[in-house]
Amino acid sequence: MTTSTDLDEYERRFIAYTAEFDDVPDAAPLRLKVEHTFRVYDHAKRIVASLETLEAPHRQWVGDTAACRAAVLAALFHDCGRFPQFKHFRTFLDAASVNHAVLSFQTMRDRAFLQREGAEVRGLAHCAVLLHNRYSLSPKLNERARFVTEVVRDADKLDIFRIMVSYLTSALPEKDAVLLHVKDEPEKWSPTVVDDVLNDRIARYSDLRYINDFRLLLGTWMDELRFPVTRKALADSGLMDNVLEQLPDTPELRPALDVLRVKLAQCREAAGGKA
Ligand SMILES: [Fe+2]
Repeated sequence: MTTSTDLDEYERRFIAYTAEFDDVPDAAPLRLKVEHTFRVYDHAKRIVASLETLEAPHRQWVGDTAACRAAVLAALFHDCGRFPQFKHFRTFLDAASVNHAVLSFQTMRDRAFLQREGAEVRGLAHCAVLLHNRYSLSPKLNERARFVTEVVRDADKLDIFRIMVSYLTSALPEKDAVLLHVKDEPEKWSPTVVDDVLNDRIARYSDLRYINDFRLLLGTWMDELRFPVTRKALADSGLMDNVLEQLPDTPELRPALDVLRVKLAQCREAAGGKA
């Protein structure tokens, strides 16, 4: 699909790009985005490498080198818009600034990051970057673009689990930026988000008010992971167990907790190879 030397050039290009933002004041959250990017990129490579071990529908993509390459490149550049977003708006909150996925796509296009790629790879990668943060993907999206986008979305979510869980248990200065300014009131939660859990819906960022809402949101993401290797990685990491333990164990929240425990068990079962 790709050679490591070939990908090295893209990695260097990305690092050089992020260095342009080194003089942004209080740029610690941007340094975390660099770290996040490389983890997402590694996860995407792992997902692509796992395709051979899978059955339909994932296995059909093994021989599609353009789609697999687009997925890996999209993962590397998926959040490049976060840098100008933070520089200009001092926040990662899209609702208070710009849609960072659109900005990432525009940045990739305007800077011609994928100029050396053919139109096919470039188009698929741009599409995946543009759609990586959508609440859901349109049923009209063609299968190939969906596959590429889902690799990026799975890889992204897996690392967001790690970031959020670490911030939910610590009090680092970047906490506000990372937790998107929710209130740290450990006994509270929003009924709307609990309803989402009980009805198998993905919670929306815009509904989050309290730190527990974030924990519940992460729980609703378990069903969204499309690839067995991602589900296995999440289950093996123990991150979700940690999240569930931190939710208040009260009679009102217990039904939601039970739903999330079942979903986590399903992630473990899915780890065998079938999606
Ligand atoms: Fe993103």
